[in-house]
Amino acid sequence: MEISVLGAGYVGLTTAACLAEIGHQVLCADCDLEKLSSLKAGRLPFYEPHLDDLVKRNVASGRLEFTLPSAAIEKGKAIFICVGTPPLENGEADLSSIESVARLIVNSAHGYRIVIEKSTVPVQTAKRLWRHLSIYNTNGLEFDVVSNPEFLREGSAVEDFFHPDRVVVGAESPRAIALMKEIYAPVLRTRSSCPAHPQCPSMPEPKFILTDTNSAELVKHASNSFLAMKISFINLIADACEAAGADIEKVAEGIGSDKRIGQAFLNPGIGFGGFCFPKDLQAFVRIGEKLGCDFSLLREVEKINVRRTEQFVVKIKKELWVLRGKTLAVWGLAFKPNTDDVRFAPALGIIRRLMAEGAKIRAYDPEAMEKAKLDLPEVTYCESAYQAAEGTDAVLVLTEWSEFREISWKRLGELVAHRLIIDGRNLLSAAEASSNGFQYVGVGRAAQPLRPAGELEWADAITAEVPVASHQRPAPTQDASIA
Ligand code: UDX
Repeated sequence: MEISVLGAGYVGLTTAACLAEIGHQVLCADCDLEKLSSLKAGRLPFYEPHLDDLVKRNVASGRLEFTLPSAAIEKGKAIFICVGTPPLENGEADLSSIESVARLIVNSAHGYRIVIEKSTVPVQTAKRLWRHLSIYNTNGLEFDVVSNPEFLREGSAVEDFFHPDRVVVGAESPRAIALMKEIYAPVLRTRSSCPAHPQCPSMPEPKFILTDTNSAELVKHASNSFLAMKISFINLIADACEAAGADIEKVAEGIGSDKRIGQAFLNPGIGFGGFCFPKDLQAFVRIGEKLGCDFSLLREVEKINVRRTEQFVVKIKKELWVLRGKTLAVWGLAFKPNTDDVRFAPALGIIRRLMAEGAKIRAYDPEAMEKAKLDLPEVTYCESAYQAAEGTDAVLVLTEWSEFREISWKRLGELVAHRLIIDGRNLLSAAEASSNGFQYVGVGRAAQPLRPAGELEWADAITAEVPVASHQRPAPTQDASIA
């Protein structure tokens, strides 16, 4: 099918490249001329695993082309609207790009079009869009408006396109529904391979959920708000673990093993970031107000998340006392691994706080340093995690890149001025750190005391089958009882 995708951001570019990969003829458009010429030159505006190859392959095959919005609208039978809906001052979603695209469609298109809303928008936007198109429709354009929310995650966007849990379609007309099924048919059946997997793991067939546009729009905001709530919940429980002397890993395992809850999104840390959860949560709270619903639960989710930054700074001060004049290594700047995106990244908020306290920051991130430099030019950016750790008073783990797990403790021990790890993502092994002479502080984990390198506690010995010096067996600790 001839498809136009308007907006070449994360959602638009990934959707365009993946639709071309499954055989559609795709025109991807953006009104940012600089971005358009970079894309035509094969340069992507962001790092996303597998996407670079996918774009190159489909441009070479002639199934993917980059062009201006009006040209794309003229050609594509299906028009995916993937423009940005950034937050306004009051937290509401800014829909001005959606409106201007609507104008462009009625001015440039002829015959029949399905106009597919993929940007994250407040409930009832599709209805407004339909009305707006009808009002300004001077070309006798025949059209249907469809809501088709996107659930892809940055860092695994291509995999998420080819292995969605569900494809949600909000549509009324049978014609539009049939076209949506045709567009997604290749994704709705199980696959043997895809651009993210030479051999796809066996996964259940995705669900095709057909509903009305209002319900489809609410699925998106509610899903993101629920996931954000799950993260804030486990962060709250992590605080209780620290206060009570319990282990969040075990507690999360205990909670998540209940099929009704599930293990996913129960990783505690320094809070959620990125361009979706914070803004979608705020927008949903505003939508709730407009609908006359009390969304105070979601306000609490937001408050818990905002507090994570200060709580982490307090954790650092508890170990290092005065921060002025201290040098701290920061491992990870991106809001999550496998992306170069630092928008609303918790790491940046923490760095700003630490620098305000007079600390010096040496940072390393495998992908996100160029983007972080635009926000935080005062930070010292390093070539490697080791270089960042040189002469520092503590190493802060702020993004759980897997490469940080591969570190040599011996080499690290020789580089740092003080052997202290403060792990905001519980990425590293507490036992390993302390058996290498590092003090380890995690999130919701019992702090590991500093121990001579190589000496193991009786607890570790049990697991490691190594004989311990019997005289060191400590008396069981008295947890803070919740009388
Ligand atoms: C999210 C949704 O997952 C996706 O479905 C939607 O389409 C867009 O928004 P994304 O923002 O890319 O995707 O990242 P996600 O993997 O959801 O992580 C969001 C934030 O939550 C990150 O900062 C991550 O570090 C944090 N997080 C995630 C946790 O702190 N704990 C967890 O258990 C999971």
